[in-house]
Amino acid sequence: MNDQLSTLSRQWNQSLRTLFERDSDRGSRYVAKGAGLRLDYSKHWVDDAVLEALLRLLDECHFSAQRAKLFSGERINSTENRAVLHAALRAQSTDEYGIDGQSVMAEVFQARGDTYAFAEDIREGRVLGSTGETLTDVVNIGIGGSDLGPLMVSEALKPLIDGPRPHYVSNVDGAHLHDVLASLNPATTLILVASKTFTTQETMHNAMKAKRWITEALGDQAVSHHFAALSTNAEAVAAFGISESRMFGFWDWVGGRYSVWSSIGLSLVIALGPEVFGRFLDGARAMDQHFQKAPAKDNIPVLMALLGIWYRNGFGLETLAVLPYEQRLHRFAAYLQQMEMESNGKRVDREGAPVNYDTCPVIWGEPGTNGQHAFFQLLHQGTLICPADFILTANPTNTDAESHALLNANCLAQAESLAFGKTEDAVYREMIEHGQSESEALRLAPHRTFPGNRPSSLIMMDALTPENLGALIAAYEHKVFTQGVIWNINSYDQWGVELGKAQCNALRPSFDSGDASAFSTSTQETLKWLLSQKP
Ligand code: F6P
Repeated sequence: MNDQLSTLSRQWNQSLRTLFERDSDRGSRYVAKGAGLRLDYSKHWVDDAVLEALLRLLDECHFSAQRAKLFSGERINSTENRAVLHAALRAQSTDEYGIDGQSVMAEVFQARGDTYAFAEDIREGRVLGSTGETLTDVVNIGIGGSDLGPLMVSEALKPLIDGPRPHYVSNVDGAHLHDVLASLNPATTLILVASKTFTTQETMHNAMKAKRWITEALGDQAVSHHFAALSTNAEAVAAFGISESRMFGFWDWVGGRYSVWSSIGLSLVIALGPEVFGRFLDGARAMDQHFQKAPAKDNIPVLMALLGIWYRNGFGLETLAVLPYEQRLHRFAAYLQQMEMESNGKRVDREGAPVNYDTCPVIWGEPGTNGQHAFFQLLHQGTLICPADFILTANPTNTDAESHALLNANCLAQAESLAFGKTEDAVYREMIEHGQSESEALRLAPHRTFPGNRPSSLIMMDALTPENLGALIAAYEHKVFTQGVIWNINSYDQWGVELGKAQCNALRPSFDSGDASAFSTSTQETLKWLLSQKP
């Protein structure tokens, strides 16, 4: 943050209550719209002066030029020398994306066509299991970006599933694969091994076990009928025993956490059909266009990013709560955790120098109204201030209007209560009116007071359609990009996950030998204890 913003945040002393009292248009002025989404950011600690200063930050960071680099396929992932072109995956024939002057469109359309054709073959019963039975269930084995996106979207769009049922296995904990396979019939199950690298320990371990599950039931020749791979690593896919015709590829310029739009989404294409999946891509494309064309002051991802920077760097707020008032978005916060925290959880800048400011906050959340009965106590009365993104839809999908009105009333009531609270005086008067004694009212009033002034966004859409879901995800993707530009960090590598992986590889043999002398005494003693508990 620049000096002007630091000064503004130090001097900031306006409450949300005052801001609304002073400006009767605040609820309509602090709103941005685009790609089917409406962002109400009126309940934030901003006024016009703050917004102007935040918008100026963009110029200081050469934001427009950086955004142009993203969309023109420059290798902005400098530590891996890769372009970042997931937007190309939702392109239409009139769009153009390329890297080093080479268009990527032909291969994108070819790959999309291949996944659509395969999905249609399964949905129409032209591709069958090894015994000639229809494939009724699809198990996606992947982790991180090769799991969270498809899983989250399959839950969000559940009412539109009209093809084989999708299932997801990610954890190396054998219980996960066991519990999913327990209810499935190998003869009618297709396994998708989803891994960009095709080397991820958990995925390869689970894939090998699934292979045994298939071959033990149906014989070795069944592998070619019951497996497909979603990967960029053709060699490893072949070594696993999956033929080229069953490998659906993508490219190194698609980051794992940005890959739901690629062949990693195959489980969705099979379950929902190409038409619905295409609508999902179209929604994201609409947000790509909004992000590139809308002026910064009306630009949803840019505003979301700037608000995040304001709280993180101006006030040291450490978290962002993501609170969808849509049960079907119950995995959305988990999905965003990877997208935001793996992207912007960085401690050095693009040149490798340690940053002297804070970067990504902790992203967390649960759907409303459940969260209200769990952690909202802290949001309302705790000592931490947690800015929140409330996500809501005007209309329900496959449920009744009465429940939906109640759901949305809860959402607005929470945002309103967080913002405006309830004074000790009002609490006291209310208790007296209800017949409480004065001493009792005085004793309880502090406990029942809501300080308010707790900021939140309302992110809304007409309904949870494939288009709107695509736009919502893309809005967060572009928010992450914008924050990465402002923080001058590389949002597209993830070296921070490597040390733990290497340590695990080094430690695994100790579970057989009992010798963990290369590790700390804590690990040695823990291993000793774990082994002593074996039956
Ligand atoms: O956790 C690290 C990570 O590389 C993520 O970025 C990625 O989404 C996940 O592992 C899975 O990787 P892969 O698709 O290569 O199996």
